Amino acid sequence: MLAIIGAMDEEIELLLADLQGREDLGFPGVTLHRGVLDGVDVLLTRGGIGKVNAAMTTTQLLNAGATQVIFTGVAGGVHPELRVGDIVVSTDCVQHDVDVTALGYAVGTVPGEAPAWAADPELRAVALASAQVIPNVRVVEGRVASGDQFIASPEGAARLLGTFGAACAEMEGAAVAQVCAKAGVPFVVIRSVSDTADGGAQVDYREFMPRVARHAKTVVRGMLARL
Ligand code: ADE
Repeated sequence: MLAIIGAMDEEIELLLADLQGREDLGFPGVTLHRGVLDGVDVLLTRGGIGKVNAAMTTTQLLNAGATQVIFTGVAGGVHPELRVGDIVVSTDCVQHDVDVTALGYAVGTVPGEAPAWAADPELRAVALASAQVIPNVRVVEGRVASGDQFIASPEGAARLLGTFGAACAEMEGAAVAQVCAKAGVPFVVIRSVSDTADGGAQVDYREFMPRVARHAKTVVRGMLARL
């Protein structure tokens, strides 16, 4: 079954409103909504903010039978060409706040684990095709950098670009990716840009987040029609 996760209510409410035959499944720490969206059986959920919530939610989705995972939401654009409203489709995900460099590991690498987790080629292709039909929106395929931090400085954004070659900054994708990779379940992360992770990020985020969350939702619906 296809699972769709957003971190916040704003990121899933537009999909939840159209879920047919909705059944709410209570799991420890998270409620999963099962139903039919645009003719496709889905599990839909608000996973909460940050990597721990994302990992917990993904684990429960896999326990409930998810075989493909889409994460949808907003992000801070780090790629120099990204503007508010644009879309990032993940090539892979890294955890930018993991630092075991003192023991000789590359920054971002969890000892014993892959340095990054690759998104599924088919889900990427379907997400890309769905995003490219949205008018006046640039679509970038790139690396999603996740950490338990809201990035809001030019230095912070430059570090993610320079150290990781990131396209965007957010707080959940790599946790979803890590859990899915361990289980061998395909995933993709789709993010619309609410801010550019720089000095104006807090103001832009508050102003644009609800509006641009719609773009990511449009991509998900396009994917449902194509999968
Ligand atoms: N989500 C949206 N904007 C973000 C930012 N600047 N940093 C981290 N997560 C975000």
